[in-house]
Amino acid sequence: MRPITAHGMLAGLDEIADVGRDRLRGGFSRSIWSTSELQLRIWFVERAERLGLDVEADRNGNLWAWWGPPGDGAVVTGSHLDSVPGGGPFDGPLGVVSALEAVARLQRSGFIPGRPFAVAVFAEEEGSRFGVACLGSRMMSGTIDPDRVRALTDAAGVTFADAARDAGLNPAHLGADPETAARIGLFLELHIEQGRGLIDLDSPVAVASSILAHGRWRLAFRGQGNHAGATAMQGRQDPLVAAARAVTAIRDTALSIAGSRATVGRIEVTPGGTNVIPSSVTSWLDARGETAKDTRLLVAEIARLSDGLAAEEGCSVVVTEESWSDAVSFDARLLERLSSALGGVPALASGAGHDAGVLSSVAPTAMLFVRNPTGISHAPEEWAELEDTLAGIDALETVLRSLL
Ligand code: GLV
Ligand code: MN
Ligand code: MN
Repeated sequence: MRPITAHGMLAGLDEIADVGRDRLRGGFSRSIWSTSELQLRIWFVERAERLGLDVEADRNGNLWAWWGPPGDGAVVTGSHLDSVPGGGPFDGPLGVVSALEAVARLQRSGFIPGRPFAVAVFAEEEGSRFGVACLGSRMMSGTIDPDRVRALTDAAGVTFADAARDAGLNPAHLGADPETAARIGLFLELHIEQGRGLIDLDSPVAVASSILAHGRWRLAFRGQGNHAGATAMQGRQDPLVAAARAVTAIRDTALSIAGSRATVGRIEVTPGGTNVIPSSVTSWLDARGETAKDTRLLVAEIARLSDGLAAEEGCSVVVTEESWSDAVSFDARLLERLSSALGGVPALASGAGHDAGVLSSVAPTAMLFVRNPTGISHAPEEWAELEDTLAGIDALETVLRSLL
């Protein structure tokens, strides 16, 4: 049976196609523990239970749907359900829906897993509410200080600890969870491709080879708030002018270092009045590079230039690191197993970060990418054709059969 729906999407994706639609930005806004993300969690639990899986939440807000008894060394597949603001329908949900679909297919064929198996949903992968990506997998694997996470705040000033409590977690129990981590024998994440690699290669599916080093930095510019009409253009201390000049310097610096990427996608202007020269501006930098060294150099140069530009505008800037992820090379032996099970699909480097990257510190991990015909991601135009989605599920099913 081909699980086709009216919208041309796989049935599972179609079921959630109206959850978290963002009428203002376009696309979907499904930040962690928002109404829409909670709705997706309920949908996941119902979907998994319909397949006879036992769903449990761990102490960091990640969900685990077990086919058979939980145990150490499990094969785990899945992804995330949260999104960036105004994101596309596939980044995250494609991996979750494909995992459930692969389980359904295996069950229909009478397959019995030969080792523990779970579908996982990781919490706050995008970091769109609390600023740090992959918080669920980072906390579980013990790679972030839980005190720091508890104190993170969202745009409304709500702390992670309070939001976690409201979501039914005990904030005191957040952090390293070696028992849960030990259950991951290997993790496989199927994901929409977020660039044009598979368009160029004319292939529906690839395996991932690596992830760029990447991180996020806060640039806090301070100036002097003042009257827009009564203040001469000369001698202003306008932190938004400093921040704007820094944005172009950031772009130019990244252009000068091969393989680097640097983006300012978010900016807050205080106090934010049309007739008010701002007093402070916070902008957030996302910087990535082939290696940690390249990325550190890129950010050091950006900090140096921003400092000079702020001074030229009579302002100051403080640059603070908010998160960091080293470059990841996916597990070579697992990659080989995937490639041989799939008959030599192409391998692609990932410019995007993933839970599979974070989890590579606790277990062998790998990823499958499904072609994105627009080459666009983190935007409403992100897409996967049904045929390619089905090819991705075929690949996932094949790999799971071999691994289980
Ligand atoms: C996650 O999608 C990231 O790379 O920002
Ligand atoms: Mn994403
Ligand atoms: Mn993702």
